[in-house]
Amino acid sequence: MPPRCRCRWACWGAGVALAALAIWAALRFTSDVPVTYASNEDHFKYGSTGGERSSGIPYSIWMALPELFPQYLPGKGLQSLGFLYEPGRDLPIGVSKRKVQGIDRVFLNCAVCHVGSVRDTPASSPRFILGMASNTVDLQGFERFLSAVALDKDFTGDRIAPVIKKMGTDDWLNRELIRYVGVDLMRDQLVTLRQMFSFMDGEPVFGPGRFDTFNPPKVLLNFRMDSLPEVERIGVCNFPSIWHQRLREGMELHWDGNNTSVDERNRSAAFGTGALPPTLDRPSVHRTADWLLDAAPPPYPYPVDAALASRGKPVYEQYCARCHGASGTDFAGELVGKVTPIDLIKTDRHRLDSYSFALCVNQGQLYAAYPEERFQHFRKTNGYANQPLDGIWLRAPYLHNGSVPNLRSLLEPASRRPASFYRGYDVYDPKNVGFIADVPGENGRAYFAYDTTLPGNGNHGHEGWAYGTELSDDNKLALLEFLKTF
Ligand code: HEC
Ligand code: HEC
Repeated sequence: MPPRCRCRWACWGAGVALAALAIWAALRFTSDVPVTYASNEDHFKYGSTGGERSSGIPYSIWMALPELFPQYLPGKGLQSLGFLYEPGRDLPIGVSKRKVQGIDRVFLNCAVCHVGSVRDTPASSPRFILGMASNTVDLQGFERFLSAVALDKDFTGDRIAPVIKKMGTDDWLNRELIRYVGVDLMRDQLVTLRQMFSFMDGEPVFGPGRFDTFNPPKVLLNFRMDSLPEVERIGVCNFPSIWHQRLREGMELHWDGNNTSVDERNRSAAFGTGALPPTLDRPSVHRTADWLLDAAPPPYPYPVDAALASRGKPVYEQYCARCHGASGTDFAGELVGKVTPIDLIKTDRHRLDSYSFALCVNQGQLYAAYPEERFQHFRKTNGYANQPLDGIWLRAPYLHNGSVPNLRSLLEPASRRPASFYRGYDVYDPKNVGFIADVPGENGRAYFAYDTTLPGNGNHGHEGWAYGTELSDDNKLALLEFLKTF
């Protein structure tokens, strides 16, 4: 071959190689591919809502952190914070994965707060129940774990990259990117978040199954958190169950009944998964929302005394049905999905007061760039919502702040409800209808000691003849039995 031809071939070769490299780099660094699931249930448990795009944690760092910083966890692995792992899975329920810019990233989805666990006995394996409120996950504990990691002198690329190599969770290029850029970016983000959410340190500790819903959006809207009115500062509440959304359309829901639209409640919830309007994966959230329309709780699995339950039915009809619906599937009742004023219900008012008129007015700005998605249904209310009681056996601890451990105690006046108890244990207590609440810990995990005397944690209210606390003991037992059929 004459030299000129050889040179031309070499140039062509180099050009093709460069072009291939450019295409590879473009594909790699612009990639945005979620892990997808065939079944709606798996999609709910593990599907991405888009949160990884802005809030994602590199998968390999997520996997390395419990190995590297066990001193900031209460026990072994994220299990010790109540995260639920199905056999054979490397990520817990409620954590989704998406490849963004060539790096697998993970973040939380709806299921982290809306999947719970039930064991029949301490020795049985747990059943994970979709749509139930999480009764085990301590998200504030998780947030504190990440903050502690971010401030640790060992949270450096040079410490983390070798662990990732040893665990085999990422390739050479990503390891080097994480070593020289990723860890620093993550530290900056975590330290900023820690600062933004420091207002939570002034609230009672949330423990498993609870979070503050409506103070975080104030942060997103740049409210001055240090000058919030005193009454708004505590917004801690239980995660709710989210079955039967079709039947809930038009009801005034959220604990304080501040929104009548299922769609808006879902979209407002998506902020909790780190997905902001520009990063939200709309088809994915719609898929979950559609599935939730008819998702239903499993029936009560333990024996029910049918004769006793049928004696409880008329008691329920007389006292409870107008506010809570005819049954666990028929939500008819003149006051269902309406708000009972705080002066009548008299439960702890902190969650109610934390949602302010100023926030209500400003929430319209959250989707400001998407006119057809702007929130229009939020309003300030003056009480708590009368919600349907579907799957009520799974919704312990009860009331919006999770201050009453079981249904049996809810039928007593506050003076006879437990002043303190443990949350986070998932072994069922069919006698009192709720989870066993006097076990302080298990397998190295300490459960959360709930103190009803702290502000926001009060267990008062929902008392008096209308709420069943003055019924005879016989009628209470019959009513309790009937509620098991919901
Ligand atoms: C960080 C935990 C968390 C995550 C993640 C989360 N939620 Fe929730 N969800 C809550 C809490 C807490 C409430 C109660 C809000 C209130 O009234 O204060 C709630 C309320 C709801 C409600 C209204 C329930 C009712 O009847 O009042 C729906 C529906 C809902 N969430 C759906 C979702 C969906 C869908 C997702 C995912 C896109 C999601 N949630 C993600 C914690 C979470
Ligand atoms: C006037 C309306 C009204 C009546 C009557 C009423 N409730 Fe309630 N109920 C409420 C409201 C409002 C709440 C929410 C209070 C809160 O969370 O602070 C509630 C909460 C509950 C809860 C807790 C739900 C959860 O997810 O934690 C249960 C269980 C319950 N009621 C059962 C009953 C029973 C049983 C009766 C009849 C003996 C009854 N209620 C009568 C309005 C009513």
